[in-house]
Amino acid sequence: MTNHLDFLLEQNRLWSQSVKDRDHDFFRHLAMQQNPKYFWIGCADSRVSANEILGLQPGEVFVHRNVANVVVHSDLNCLSVLQYAVDVLRVQHILVVGHYGCGGVTAALYNTRLGLIDNWLRHVQDVRDKHRVRLMAMGCPDRQLDRLCELNVLEQVLNLSETTIMRDAWARGQDVTLHGLIYGLHDGILHDLNMPVSTDNELLSRYEAAVDRLFASSK
Ligand code: CO
Repeated sequence: MTNHLDFLLEQNRLWSQSVKDRDHDFFRHLAMQQNPKYFWIGCADSRVSANEILGLQPGEVFVHRNVANVVVHSDLNCLSVLQYAVDVLRVQHILVVGHYGCGGVTAALYNTRLGLIDNWLRHVQDVRDKHRVRLMAMGCPDRQLDRLCELNVLEQVLNLSETTIMRDAWARGQDVTLHGLIYGLHDGILHDLNMPVSTDNELLSRYEAAVDRLFASSK
């Protein structure tokens, strides 16, 4: 019986060889430095792999993933990755990437009990409750779920923009822009949710305008 680890190691060797066949010096250059322009904050979902979706090579995107792509102000893990990305790597674009059909967002919307993770997903329920009136007015559960997946991304862009890390970066004039995107599992296409943030001015009005656009497009 083939051992599963053997399978993975064999896959890895094939991949490494295919990269070397394309570019003989790839790993020599990769080992010398890390200089990504992009920082991706996305869902842990196995279908939402940052490099693959963006068509980027190892070394081109710095990544943090958790269930339902949530940015929480007390999450030392996410904040540490953010601080390193902004202060040390000096990434130029930070992408919060949600995806339609997110299991975490679905559980949050319907109060599904899954265990410890319910406490993490409470943050997504806060997003749901913040927009409860407009979500309920939509009626159709599938459209409510799509909208909550999108609203959750905008909320996390807002949370990011309020961290001391982003505020300090902008205060010293660093060129770094936040973006909210959502990924469609059915066609592999990323959509911009039109909330670029590169300063802490007029944050709330930008957020509210982006939310209004979402609900306007779903009428
Ligand atoms: Co997900």
